[in-house]
Amino acid sequence: MSKNQAFHRRGFLKTAIAAAAVAGVVSLPSFAYAQSKIKVGLMLPYTGTYAQLGVAITNGFKMAMSESGGKFGGHELEYFTVDDESSPPKATDNANALVTRDKVDVLVGTVHSGVVMGMVKVARDSGTPLIIPNAGAGAATGSQCAPNIFRTSFTNWQPAYPMGKVLADRGIKKAVTLTWKYGAGIEAIEGFKEGFKKAGGTVVKELFLPFPSVEFQPLLTEIASIKPDAVFVFFAGGGGVKLMKDWQAAGLKGKIGLYGSGFLTDGVLDATGSAADGIETTLHYGDGIETPKNKTFRLNYAKTYKLQPDVYAVQGYDAGLLLVAGLKAVKGDMSKKKEFLSAMEKAKIDSPRGAWTMSKAHNPVQDIYLRKVVNGENKVTGVAQKALADPARGCKM
Ligand code: BEZ
Repeated sequence: MSKNQAFHRRGFLKTAIAAAAVAGVVSLPSFAYAQSKIKVGLMLPYTGTYAQLGVAITNGFKMAMSESGGKFGGHELEYFTVDDESSPPKATDNANALVTRDKVDVLVGTVHSGVVMGMVKVARDSGTPLIIPNAGAGAATGSQCAPNIFRTSFTNWQPAYPMGKVLADRGIKKAVTLTWKYGAGIEAIEGFKEGFKKAGGTVVKELFLPFPSVEFQPLLTEIASIKPDAVFVFFAGGGGVKLMKDWQAAGLKGKIGLYGSGFLTDGVLDATGSAADGIETTLHYGDGIETPKNKTFRLNYAKTYKLQPDVYAVQGYDAGLLLVAGLKAVKGDMSKKKEFLSAMEKAKIDSPRGAWTMSKAHNPVQDIYLRKVVNGENKVTGVAQKALADPARGCKM
C-alpha cells in the first residue's frame, strides 16, 4: 500500500467510526476494540556480579504484578527484557532500544548506579516513566530529578549515613573505609563519613578497588597495620561474599569491627557461612521484620520461587506496587500520563519493609534498621534512624 493509499484508508476508517458512533451503532470494526498492551521494559543485570540481584528484583516485581491480577482496564502487560550486564558504556543504547525499538510505556531498572544514569538520561530525553528498583545514584533523585523518574529503593547516602552515628555513639572514633571505586561506593562512603564526622568520628584512611575486582588481600594487610576501631564498607552480591570470607581468613574477624550498608550481607548469607556471623549493617529492610505484610510476602515469595527473598526482592516488589498504583488510577490507559505520574507520586506503598511514601524528589522516605547477622539471618536489632529522607541535593522540582 502506498503512503497515499494508507492515508486515505485511515481517513475512511475514521469517517466510518464517526458515522457509526453518530448513528448509535454499537458494532464497530473489530480493530477498534483491540485493547493495547501495557509495555514494560525491564532493564536489569542477569549476568555478572549483580546477576542475582537482577533476578530477585524481577521476581519481586512480577509477583506484585500477578497479585494485582496483571490486567488494568482490560489492558494486559507485556514484558521486554534486557540484560544490562552492569555495563555503564552500554546503558544508553540498551535503554534507547527499549524506548525506540520496543516502544515501552514504562522503564524499570536497574541495579548499578553507573548504568542507571544512562536510563535517567533516556527517561529525561524521551519522557518515558522510569521506576528505579535498586540503583542508589544520588543524582537520579537529586540534580537529575524529574517528574517522570521514581525510585523504590534508596539513595546510596541513605543507609550509610545513620551508621556513622551508631558507631560514634559506641565510642568508636577512628575508622577506615573500603569500597569499589564507582558511584555507589563513593556515595555510600560519603554518607557514612558525613554521619560519623558529625557525631565526632574521624575517617583515617579511605581505601578503594575498581569495580568489580575482589583482590582484597593487599588492602586487608594495610587495614591490619592501621588497626582502626572499625572498617565501614560498601560491597554487594558476590563481592560482599568474597570480602567477608577473606576478612575471616586474614584473621581480622573478632579483632576489628566490620560494618557496612546492609547490601554487604543481604541475599548472600547462604554463600558466606560463618564468615558473616555477627556483622552489623544498616539498611531499609531486615529478614525478621515482624509484620503481617512481611510474613505474607516472605511466605509467598518462597512458595513461588523456591528462594528466600532479600532486600532486592522487596524493592522489585515495591516497584510493582508503585506501578500498580499508577495503572489503577488510569485504568491501564497510558496516554493519561499526568494522572499516572500523579498517582505514583501520592502512593503510599504497603511494603514488607514497612509502609513508605515518596519524597518530593521521588525517593522513599523510610526507616533505616540496624541489623546483625544471627543464625544465617539479617536480624533487626533496632531502628538506626526513623523516616529518613535523602537530602536530594540539587533537585529542582
Ligand atoms: C548501586 O550500584 O547503586 C548498587 C548496587 C548494588 C547494591 C546497592 C547499590
